[in-house]
Amino acid sequence: MQFQFQNPTRILFGEGQISEISQQIPADAKVLVLYGGGSIKRNGIYAQVEQALQHHQWLEFDGIEPNPTVETLDNAVKLVKAEQIDFLLAVGGGSVIDGTKYVAAAAKYQGYGWDILDGKAQVTDAMPLGCILTLPATGSESNAAAVVTRVATAEKKAFFSPLVYPQFAVLDPTAMSTLPDRQLRNGIVDAFVHICEQYLTFPAGNMVQDGYAESLLRNLIVLAQQFDDRRQPQWQANLMYTANQALNGLIGAGVAHDWATHAIGHELTTLYGLDHAQTLAVVQPALLRQQYVHKHDKLVQMGKNVFGIDGKDAAQQCINAIEALYRELGVGTKLDDYGVNRLDAVEQVSAALAEHGQLPLGEHGHIELADCEQILQRA
Ligand code: NZQ
Ligand code: ZN
Repeated sequence: MQFQFQNPTRILFGEGQISEISQQIPADAKVLVLYGGGSIKRNGIYAQVEQALQHHQWLEFDGIEPNPTVETLDNAVKLVKAEQIDFLLAVGGGSVIDGTKYVAAAAKYQGYGWDILDGKAQVTDAMPLGCILTLPATGSESNAAAVVTRVATAEKKAFFSPLVYPQFAVLDPTAMSTLPDRQLRNGIVDAFVHICEQYLTFPAGNMVQDGYAESLLRNLIVLAQQFDDRRQPQWQANLMYTANQALNGLIGAGVAHDWATHAIGHELTTLYGLDHAQTLAVVQPALLRQQYVHKHDKLVQMGKNVFGIDGKDAAQQCINAIEALYRELGVGTKLDDYGVNRLDAVEQVSAALAEHGQLPLGEHGHIELADCEQILQRA
């Protein structure tokens, strides 16, 4: 495949790097600091931001919720316009960073911001943004994607634009000190599935992308096995950098992509409120079983190079190993684990996918409504 690859986000990695943002943001910029429900006030990150921005003019916008909503974010867009803000600083996890990307694009768009998610409008201009990551999982800190929910219509959609790459991303693993175990588990699962969405398709002889993807997958398996060490700086640093590399565009350049697990998962979050990573743990094993024939060869390769599985039924064993990885980590892989009625999910999720124009799905574009129903029946 022909491809171009450029990731413009400057990574500032390591303890103490928050102070560096004062150098990265233009001295005369009026900054809006965006954050979530307040975790940054409890772990000292907010105080470090205050310190770093002491010579800047800045305002704040809080309350960006997990799975950020356009309803909330449009208030930030209003503030940006009213206060003539010229730089956005996101401090949080994927939700805050995605939400800030939306604000960056919507503030420069004349119509209703949701048009960007709906595909009615392309992003042609965006405000500059930077971010401080507090939850390693999504890769949003150095990619061009954002996922936003619209409560009014129960939709969760993504948009992509090179204009919303953060200019810089602070990856200070000490920000993870207050993360609940649930979010650490989510981070491992989300990053694992991101790699699979770009790797677990069909063999195409991409030695660099495959080799790097396998190496990142093995990291995540080790981190899951060493979950008892999750409060150790080295464990945290390794998760933070692995999750970052999993979705910064590198392993996805020049290869086929899947993303069906994510599309189905987004509907599960909207309908039943599951965490993003929980939906992935539920959908992916079921999807791999339903798409077994098409993914067989890559499952065998993954089994061998990632899990050390050889011989008969290697593809099947690879799927079992993926599911066991999530379960042993403590992330449920069945709708039952979350009290979601399967029959209801089969009906509602499939209907939502069709209604939201998400079908067909998968690397071959051949996952249709009936396939989604079968996947959810297995979930
Ligand atoms: O809001 P606060 O108080 O900060 O609490 C958050 C939130 O409740 C908390 N948290 C974050 N950092 C913390 C912390 N708590 C204690 N200590 C810290 N250091 O964690 C909770 C979840 O945060 P959230 O940002 O929602 O989690 P995550 O990073 O998993 O982001 C999920 C969102 O990203 C989207 C998902 O769909 C979902 O909306 N995704 C974005 C992608 C992208 N842009 O490329 C790709 C992904 O596949 C994903 O779809
Ligand atoms: Zn994800």
